[in-house]
Amino acid sequence: MLLDIREVKKQYQNPEGTETLEVLRGVSFQVDAGESMAIVGPSGSGKTTLLNLVGSLDVPSEGAVVFEGRDLSGLSGDELARHRNQSVGFIFQGHHLLPHLSVLENVLVPVLAYAAVTPVHEEKARKLLDRVGLDRRMEHRPGQLSGGECQRVAFVRALINEPRLLLADEPTGALDRTTADGLTALLLELNRESNTAMIVVTHAASLADRMQRQLEIADGLIHEAR
Ligand SMILES: Nc1ncnc2c1ncn2[C@@H]1O[C@H](COP(=O)(O)OP(=O)(O)O)[C@@H](O)[C@H]1O
Ligand SMILES: [Mg+2]
Repeated sequence: MLLDIREVKKQYQNPEGTETLEVLRGVSFQVDAGESMAIVGPSGSGKTTLLNLVGSLDVPSEGAVVFEGRDLSGLSGDELARHRNQSVGFIFQGHHLLPHLSVLENVLVPVLAYAAVTPVHEEKARKLLDRVGLDRRMEHRPGQLSGGECQRVAFVRALINEPRLLLADEPTGALDRTTADGLTALLLELNRESNTAMIVVTHAASLADRMQRQLEIADGLIHEAR
């Protein structure tokens, strides 16, 4: 088992601290290595909240996120940062590329956190960019690319450190149908080839239906949707 989410609860306080919003009321599920899973649910149901907890961008109010047998609450700040960098890849709805860096440089940013970039890293980046059809765009800046192309760069950036878990929050949400379908196919291919587990939050049935499992959040709880 790669990931074990145990009775996770999440509450938010309003800024005055007078009211509590209970977004997740006890969520449990497991993910195996290489498994693909969609998380669906209405807007405001807590999908992003859950993904942030799974990715250790935020901490649960109660319960545990256990990755490869380690409870993430036991990790120091440095260990958590390393975990996020090495074990998890993130893709968001917007691509969040750095505008002043080239495509190739953007892809190598996660490498730079813990290592000097070597020709081996560059070769890997070039191969992946080639793979997503951006081999002739490596020296371009994000502003010179389309939204779909930027999102493909964000995919490659999320995969450059070969994470065991890929988290994607509405990755095709800002794209037209054709571009979104292309990205969906790409995600599935990479998942199959690299044995990277994926958790994808999506409203798109075309994407959710192609994941091995589908979980739905409703009223702060989660259940298998099929
Ligand atoms: N940092 C925060 N502080 C307070 N409330 C928040 C915060 N983040 C999310 N929420 C609230 O939690 C609920 C779930 O939000 P979210 O996880 O973003 O839902 P979804 O991604 O399913 O649309 C919403 O009501 C939202 O307003
Ligand atoms: Mg969301």
